[in-house]
Amino acid sequence: RILGNKMSKILILPGDGIGIEIIAQAVKVIDSLNRNHAMGMNLVSGLLGGAAYDETGSPFPDETIRIAKECNSILLGAVGGPKWESLERSLRPERGLLGIRSELELFSNLRPAILYPQLASASSLKKEIVSGLDLMIVRELVGGIYFGQPRGVEIKNGERFGVNSATYYESEIARIGHSAFQIAQKREGRVCSVDKANVLEVSELWRDVMEEVSKEYSDVKLSHLYVDNAAMQLVRDPKQFDVMVTSNLFGDVLSDCAAMLTGSIGMLPSASLDKNNFGMYEPIHGSAPDIAGKDIANPLATILSVSMMLRYSLNQAELAEKIDSAVSDVLDQGYRTRDIAGDSQKVVGTEEMGDLVVKALES
Ligand code: IPM
Ligand code: MG
Repeated sequence: RILGNKMSKILILPGDGIGIEIIAQAVKVIDSLNRNHAMGMNLVSGLLGGAAYDETGSPFPDETIRIAKECNSILLGAVGGPKWESLERSLRPERGLLGIRSELELFSNLRPAILYPQLASASSLKKEIVSGLDLMIVRELVGGIYFGQPRGVEIKNGERFGVNSATYYESEIARIGHSAFQIAQKREGRVCSVDKANVLEVSELWRDVMEEVSKEYSDVKLSHLYVDNAAMQLVRDPKQFDVMVTSNLFGDVLSDCAAMLTGSIGMLPSASLDKNNFGMYEPIHGSAPDIAGKDIANPLATILSVSMMLRYSLNQAELAEKIDSAVSDVLDQGYRTRDIAGDSQKVVGTEEMGDLVVKALES
């Protein structure tokens, strides 16, 4: 995979629910970059999640992994929906998502929580607490209790017994630590590691390894919080944080909380990277089956995921910047999808929002 080359092959995985319509808007943006900036991004589409199950009987077809390995980047919509909830666990859409993360070793999950000044009133928190918020959660994505063994439900002492295991090798902790410190170096130089070291041995190891890794980054300041306190601090004073690094499960919980601080989960992109910065990019919101197909979903998180892709995997920071400003321009012009619309706004649908971003990009 030649990264930083303008000719790149991108795997598009629309997935389920609103995934299909929001990805279509991101594709418009990519087409525009191809037309106007000779980006040569070659799109191939694949199946993941419920859509893959319906077509192939598996939420995570071998074919998808095979194609993914030939691509420079992946853009994912969202997976899941009530239609597949009663399936056996191994066939559910989420297995597709967990499978692709694990199979491609996308261990470093970057979830920015940025408050757009135009949307400050959308937050449920007071304006002065959230205005200017720009925080990056770095979540370990392929280990911990999500994947640890043993796991399962069995009969023990004559009753049902459920077990999952929170496990980490020191090498797994160190590599996510390096990701976080390197990101902090490009930001304000502060990393807060979140664990539960007062109770869990695996967290004690986490804390020790973070301390060890931090010795290689004298320009970054490391602090630690227990996860319960971190949750409280996120809501009390979120601007105290620059980069937060944490395990898979804690990161799952804290990143939803951080997203909500911005009041606009429909605006937030994410990246999941391997050790070579090969990545899968997706909006952090889900497949929202209740509003699928109604042309009301917010495509901006997916469009901003394209921007993250350009920045982190394709070495095109300038074009990433262009997309970010185009989104900002459209917000400045007062256009909003329903989820972020205040009182006196111009409410537009999914398609129109996509067109507006392309127009801003090309003007
Ligand atoms: C996320 C989601 C997934 C996770 C689910 C859908 C498996 O909540 O990406 O945060 O728990 O990682
Ligand atoms: Mg989650």
